[in-house]
Amino acid sequence: MMIRWGVIGAGNIATRFLKTIKNIDDQEVFAISSRNLQKAQSVAAHFNVPHSYDDYHEMLKQDLNFIYIATPHDSHFQIAKEVLEKGVPVLIEKPMTMSLAQTKELTDLAKEKGVKVMEALKSLYTPAYRKLKEVLEKEPIGRIIKVETCICNLDERFDSYLYNPACGGSLYDIGVYNVACLVDILGSQYQIKDVKKNERDGVNLYTLALLDFNGVTAIVECGIDRKKASMMKIIGDKGIIEVPLMHRPVEFSVIQDHITRYHQDYEYDDLYSQVIAFTKNYYEDKIMTYSKSLTVAKILEEIRDYPC
Ligand SMILES: NC(=O)c1ccc[n+]([C@@H]2O[C@H](COP(=O)([O-])OP(=O)(O)OC[C@H]3O[C@@H](n4cnc5c(N)ncnc54)[C@H](OP(=O)(O)O)[C@@H]3O)[C@@H](O)[C@H]2O)c1
Repeated sequence: MMIRWGVIGAGNIATRFLKTIKNIDDQEVFAISSRNLQKAQSVAAHFNVPHSYDDYHEMLKQDLNFIYIATPHDSHFQIAKEVLEKGVPVLIEKPMTMSLAQTKELTDLAKEKGVKVMEALKSLYTPAYRKLKEVLEKEPIGRIIKVETCICNLDERFDSYLYNPACGGSLYDIGVYNVACLVDILGSQYQIKDVKKNERDGVNLYTLALLDFNGVTAIVECGIDRKKASMMKIIGDKGIIEVPLMHRPVEFSVIQDHITRYHQDYEYDDLYSQVIAFTKNYYEDKIMTYSKSLTVAKILEEIRDYPC
């Protein structure tokens, strides 16, 4: 049976998602909505999507198996709440919401309705990251002492949601990847030790945060006001692991007295594995659990509100 998706939003990531679904035999995007009907129709025509809407409420009257929310962060909560109220499972682009309270409300509602809500943290689902987790279990670098995460890309799309203060700037757009990786590797017990930020007109342009996870030092560095190599470095007492392009990894190196390099291509693209996990391993998925989404939301909120 064909799995029918409804997509809310018709921008950058929605278009990429449509390409991904085209490569899954038993799935199709059945309907798409944008506030602008022409835009929805034009994307729908390009990808052979049978139905387009200028109001997602109308789209939700269709019989759909899954909804994908691909709108700016500050709209995720309200839209997801309406979808879950209808008892439809929903994959929400990162970050799930703009606060711990909102993420808690959505995960509680999903439990109450018996349907799943998932935060689309694609990086954690990539084959290279799954391989990294497997390698880490063998403790090739001994005891982990420090984890440094850095994703900084100069992004001057001033008219995009990135520069809307309600969307949390670089911390919520990019820092969510850093924080999700740290929580996935180091767990949920943490303290925030220090935060430095660059903000303009209420928009977070850069964050450097120092955390402690049960004695392991962790660094979150993210920004849209500068370009730096995107990298996670896991430092142990017997070696180092380097993961380039940590938000969409395809390789990593384990550095001891020699270097072992690992390369794992995407299954199709960087979104594919998370879509398969959400749709096929619906209840078994232990990667982006509710508990992790809640910890990520809490850390982001505490970093955002840290007095500095
Ligand atoms: N996983 C990834 O690799 C990845 C990459 C990029 C972005 N993202 C995430 O995807 C989300 C969207 O990013 P994007 O780059 O696709 O943005 P985008 O290109 O600006 O597209 C956003 C879409 O949402 C619609 N929209 C805007 N505000 C809305 C609102 N209040 N209510 C309903 N619809 C609204 C837009 O306008 P119209 O309604 O006029 O069409 C547009 O169709 C963000 O949360 C971002 O974090 C993820």
